[in-house]
Amino acid sequence: MSSHAPIGVFDSGLGGLSVVRQIRKDMPNETVMYFGDSAHAPYGLRRPEEIRDFCFSICDRFVERGVKGIVVACNTATAAAVNDLRARYDIPIIGMEPALKVACDRGNGVRQHIVVAATPLTLKERKFEKLMDRFDSLHDIRKQPCPDLVGIVESGRLSDRDLVMRTLHGYFDRYDIAHTDSVVLGCTHFVFYRDYFRELFAHSAILDGNEGTVRHLHVVLESLGQLADEDQRGTVSVENSKDSPDVLALSHDLLGE
Ligand code: DGL
Repeated sequence: MSSHAPIGVFDSGLGGLSVVRQIRKDMPNETVMYFGDSAHAPYGLRRPEEIRDFCFSICDRFVERGVKGIVVACNTATAAAVNDLRARYDIPIIGMEPALKVACDRGNGVRQHIVVAATPLTLKERKFEKLMDRFDSLHDIRKQPCPDLVGIVESGRLSDRDLVMRTLHGYFDRYDIAHTDSVVLGCTHFVFYRDYFRELFAHSAILDGNEGTVRHLHVVLESLGQLADEDQRGTVSVENSKDSPDVLALSHDLLGE
């Protein structure tokens, strides 16, 4: 596999563009091929078998186009399908999971109060249960499904402050906000809400897994000798199953390019 080959990145829709932004920042020499499956979003309310089929058809296409690795820029798709994807393809498959370990580690041994915001499926799947098992005897961890936050990004209403704050209050007013140490954004769509979360949880750390995922991608490609050359100028191409000019324009807005 040539180090000039692109990296395939996909999500149920536009959320994975927050991961592409991180790749652009940390690995600017790489060529990224992004696919958003907005026609089938949200994944978080679907059955795992259905999500696996969507993932297979997206990744089959990536592989046909010669990608050197795939980033599943979706916590939900990772929970539902990452093992099957790794069994099916012989290129590196980088998945994502909520940054719960970071939230626990930052307490440095002190019991942490943590809220994990994610899709209903991510919080229900065995993968997250196993992650919880490692930490929940030592820390106070609350799981908060936030399905409406996906649709707001997908419909381009992220700048509708009243709608967003009303939705966040609906999910989080039940928590002791002043004593929450960290909020884990366990869905790549939610990363676009960072400033809103910061406003609501003014004294908490707002954590996501994007930086860690990209670091992991870098280490894996480096170990295989497949990082793009430093004189290569990286690019991003964006495709979406909802092939409308509006969705593509929104994608480029979210990408900030
Ligand atoms: N962006 C996805 C994630 O990280 C899921 C959104 C959805 O429900 O489609 O979990």
